[in-house]
Amino acid sequence: MVQKANSEDAFQQNILVIGLGLIGGSFAAALKSANVGYRIYGYDQNADALSQALQLDIIDEGCQSLADAVHKADVIVLSVPMLAMKPIFQALSVFDLSKKVLTDVGSSKRALIEAANAVFGEVPANLVPGHPIAGSEQSGVGAARSELFVAHDVILLPLQNTDPEALNIVSTLWEAAGAVVSQMDIDHHDEVLAKTSHLPHFLAFSLVDTMAGNPDNYEIFRFAAGGFRDFTRIAGSDPVMWHDVALGNSHAVLEALDEFAEGLDALRNAIVEKDSQALLNIFGRARLARRHFGTLLESRQRRVKKAGADFSARIIQKIDNDRLATANRLATANKVVDGMSTNTPEESMQTFIAHAGGTLSGEFRVPGDKSISHRSIMLGALGEGETVIEGFLEGEDALATLKAFRDMGVQIDGPHQGRVTIQGVGMHGLKAPKGPLYLGNAGTAMRLMAGLMSAQSFYSVLTGDESLSGRPMNRVVDPLTEMGAEIETSEGGRPPLKIRGGLSLKGIEYHLPMASAQVQSCLLLAGMYAGGDTVTVAPGIVRDHTNRMLSGFGYPVDVAGDNGSQVTISGGGKLTGTRIDVPGDVSSAAFFMVAASIAKGSDIRISHVGMNPTRSGVVEILQLMGANITLENESIVGGEPVADIVVRYAPLQGIEIPKRLVPIAIDEFPVLFVAAACADGQTTLTGAKELRVKESDRIQAMADGLIALGVDAQPLPDGMVIKGAGTNTQSVFGSGIIDSHGDHRIAMSFSVAALRSGGDIQIRDCANVATSFPDFAGLAKRVGMRINVIDGVNDDALPADA
Ligand code: S3P
Repeated sequence: MVQKANSEDAFQQNILVIGLGLIGGSFAAALKSANVGYRIYGYDQNADALSQALQLDIIDEGCQSLADAVHKADVIVLSVPMLAMKPIFQALSVFDLSKKVLTDVGSSKRALIEAANAVFGEVPANLVPGHPIAGSEQSGVGAARSELFVAHDVILLPLQNTDPEALNIVSTLWEAAGAVVSQMDIDHHDEVLAKTSHLPHFLAFSLVDTMAGNPDNYEIFRFAAGGFRDFTRIAGSDPVMWHDVALGNSHAVLEALDEFAEGLDALRNAIVEKDSQALLNIFGRARLARRHFGTLLESRQRRVKKAGADFSARIIQKIDNDRLATANRLATANKVVDGMSTNTPEESMQTFIAHAGGTLSGEFRVPGDKSISHRSIMLGALGEGETVIEGFLEGEDALATLKAFRDMGVQIDGPHQGRVTIQGVGMHGLKAPKGPLYLGNAGTAMRLMAGLMSAQSFYSVLTGDESLSGRPMNRVVDPLTEMGAEIETSEGGRPPLKIRGGLSLKGIEYHLPMASAQVQSCLLLAGMYAGGDTVTVAPGIVRDHTNRMLSGFGYPVDVAGDNGSQVTISGGGKLTGTRIDVPGDVSSAAFFMVAASIAKGSDIRISHVGMNPTRSGVVEILQLMGANITLENESIVGGEPVADIVVRYAPLQGIEIPKRLVPIAIDEFPVLFVAAACADGQTTLTGAKELRVKESDRIQAMADGLIALGVDAQPLPDGMVIKGAGTNTQSVFGSGIIDSHGDHRIAMSFSVAALRSGGDIQIRDCANVATSFPDFAGLAKRVGMRINVIDGVNDDALPADA
């Protein structure tokens, strides 16, 4: 039904934007800049807006009458306040719209649908409701920017009768504007948006209004610091637009306000009652959720960066050339300052500037073990009674697991200085989460939880950030399916995992195709719920924390075979709450072991590190290379061997890494490659194909970085050959810029390399270091490394030869 209406050029599409404010103006500007055969018409009752849009060159033609405008248009974009929708529909209804596509940009849809029903008797099939998730507290066409939507989400909300061709046309328009298009159900959209967007705006308006009405308002605003400013930025938004949102989406907005008021009441009561525990719980839970959410924002920014890079380069350049000159001439043009959208994606990233040189000294601890921290939450949640964890890793990965179990109704207090208290709900006490469980960057959480979720009585969805969404999950989905689970994945067995639940699992005997503790652990956790025995056989040594911890929680497992590679569990048992002391993570300690081994004069003691023999391959490899590492104060804490690791500088030699050590040092190879580059002679690693499917392709990421810094490194399909520069070469690495690919261990490894570099190394995309090692840079600095962390990228700090 949708045909080209009026174009003289058969390939030209005529787009009419009705309402030239920030959003309408920006959409017009984006389509015009895209330069792909659109002719952009504008219509606005405000003559100034129309002439400004022409002067700014964001429309091709301004229409004086609605009749003229509609006549010319193939697609009509309605960008007017929500409650103006009905009068606009009434005005439009006198024209023949049957060959045109209509769409809108409003932030809630109930009012749009009601207006369409009232005027047309139904929602026309050629009306495609849309909502771009981008904006600014600025308003008016002077604030319009053609790059506003680049790599931002746009939600289209087709109804059952929506014409697919119309949907396709609108979708193409948004893609031409650089947006990432997705679809959603209208009611759900309005509920979600009431919470993520509308509620915060109303709170900001209300806070500013209330404080401005306080007799002390001058003092309040005068002394207001960053918190007040950040919280209230959006109170500068367009009152008419938000008036319409409040009334247009009143049902969902009232629900959100009530929910918020309940939370506020609980906080108020806790203060009245002087209930410190309740206050700490509220603030602690919120802080964690905010950090967790922050990770989601960061990972979204990374996606935005990738999706938007090409587009921005092409379009923004054009805007700069074509439009800024015009814009500058306009005295009325506003200066756009948009806290969210003027930040380029790079600015939201974290960069490490690792300055050359340094010597390490001192005694210190590293954060708690990641593998044990994940498992302690999972087993504690399913245990009967209380579990108290000390030394819990407050890194984003482990916190994602904690949050997921909270989302399934488990009461978890903390972490407060590494202490977490869990009120276990028993094997069958988890509750269905209200939405997908977002696990950030945490592969361990996703793979282990796939096993647990398969055995629950409810449906669940496990999602993750961009990196995790690219990692293979078939390695757990296949055997779980054999056990009777039903799991839907995305293409190629990637997340999200949609897990049916409510099915009975049966024990199987499974020979793992790869030496993976995550796969073995996943099956053991599922095996607790399965009928009969689940037998897992790994083709080598894999970390055995799951078996040890299951035993610690009173659930028997049978360990047999070479090096304990066969682990069997019988279904139907139970877990009993316990105390867990999480030792320092040997994978985090590894960065300092290598650092002290390559930086002359270094002498350090890393205390209380987990020395589980299925994890300590890095110590053995470094010792084989000649490192001066000794273990002191060895003891067993909570079933896990623990020791202080003392490292003094020593010259290193290249070696062929024994195959048996590969799975038990799998996470440490990135930094071991740095050690190899400093050693005399050649180091060869093979049999480590798994490195290609970690948080990044670690073979490629490390080879690229090492080669960029001048190291003789040759990647292999399953490892790497590195010719070391040798002990006598101080500047093993040149200066340069490294892309960590958002992989924490790549970022930290190249920070260590700077100890032997000839100039600064700038490592980009480092925010994910916080997944396993919060404040790595701070600790590294305190013990003698020279790392500065900056937000964004710093071109001024580029080394001269970069
Ligand atoms: C982990 C197992 C390893 C490791 C990961 C943590 C675990 O992965 O790389 O960082 O806690 O079970 P694989 O099992 O995939 O080798």
